[in-house]
Amino acid sequence: MRRTLMSSLCLLLCAAAALAAEPPSLKSLAPPGLRIGAAINRTQTNGNDPIAAAIVILQFDTVTAENDLKWERIHPEPERFDFEPADRYVDFGTTNGMFVVGHALLWHQQTPAWVFAGEGGKKLDRETLLARLRTHIATVVGRYKGRIGGWDVVNEALEEDGTLRKTPWLEAIGEDYVAKAFEFAREADPAAELYYNDYNLWKPAKRDAAIRLVQGLKARGLRVDGIGEQAHWGVDDPPLEAIDAALAALRASGTTPLITELDMDVLPRDPDMWGADLAKKARIRAATNVYPDGLPPAVQERLARLYADCFALFLKHGAGRVTFWGVTDATTWLHDFPIPGRVNYPLLWDHAGREKPALAAVAEVLRNNVRR
Ligand code: XIL
Repeated sequence: MRRTLMSSLCLLLCAAAALAAEPPSLKSLAPPGLRIGAAINRTQTNGNDPIAAAIVILQFDTVTAENDLKWERIHPEPERFDFEPADRYVDFGTTNGMFVVGHALLWHQQTPAWVFAGEGGKKLDRETLLARLRTHIATVVGRYKGRIGGWDVVNEALEEDGTLRKTPWLEAIGEDYVAKAFEFAREADPAAELYYNDYNLWKPAKRDAAIRLVQGLKARGLRVDGIGEQAHWGVDDPPLEAIDAALAALRASGTTPLITELDMDVLPRDPDMWGADLAKKARIRAATNVYPDGLPPAVQERLARLYADCFALFLKHGAGRVTFWGVTDATTWLHDFPIPGRVNYPLLWDHAGREKPALAAVAEVLRNNVRR
């Protein structure tokens, strides 16, 4: 009897020691009001990437679908919805007690051509496109009502100078297409949070335009819960001062700043990268794929410091959520963007799923509540 008691006690102590040795997760270190998460794909919810799935469950309290809720995936043809991967995504998030984010209802990319085609060969008109948008939003948001907690309703509606992007949405519907999307989303799930999401909001002209856009929506009585800065940043740019100023401005405008797609490109950037033709891309790839065999320790350290500095700014400005765009370096989209076929290292876990110094650096900032 005594022996059994002793061995149970021993087991208990061993388990407690093992738990204590496990470093605390990012979600447990984050202050109240800050959710930390990652974008995931079907490989993490169908068992094909157990390493990343385990990290997500251990570390994060929110997830975003990297691709499976985009129009081309979930609604590829007018009368056909493919809900299966999205259902699995939502089940994964809710089963693990996470805040589940929907990305994205209206975008000019990853939207099938039929959405922008006029009826019977005619030019696309406002009523047709509005009807398609309403059906899409009602069906997708309606299906996950009460389970998807927040939606990126409109993604990337702004040009760099702050004017509305010239897309088929704008051309066919007119400027109120943004308001219409928010109206339809509200109708479909009145309890869900609704966001405007864009990149480069650290640039003042674009940031101010996003703030004006959202204030305009609110003035119409529409629900908007946050402005998301995607935060596809790099080790050379943007400057921390620009991030600081942008988050301050977002906060001052009365919306919670959200960091929705965070990653840090470690490869050199070239101003010609974005619109380059194939031959030019090949040249840029050769010149900028500088770490094909591993990240040098000095760059690893630089990445860690940068992540730490950014998190201190997120804490300072009361960000409501920080979502990494991916989990481990193995599957980051930055291997193929903006130039395909390079090796990149933008996240907190390496290609094998091992912790990088940047993880410890972020954990440290959260643990000590550093506010830059
Ligand atoms: C990217 C995904 O990461 C890729 O897998 C996909 O091939 C293209 O889209 N801004 C967004 C995201 O809002 O949806 C994009 O995601 C990255 C840029």
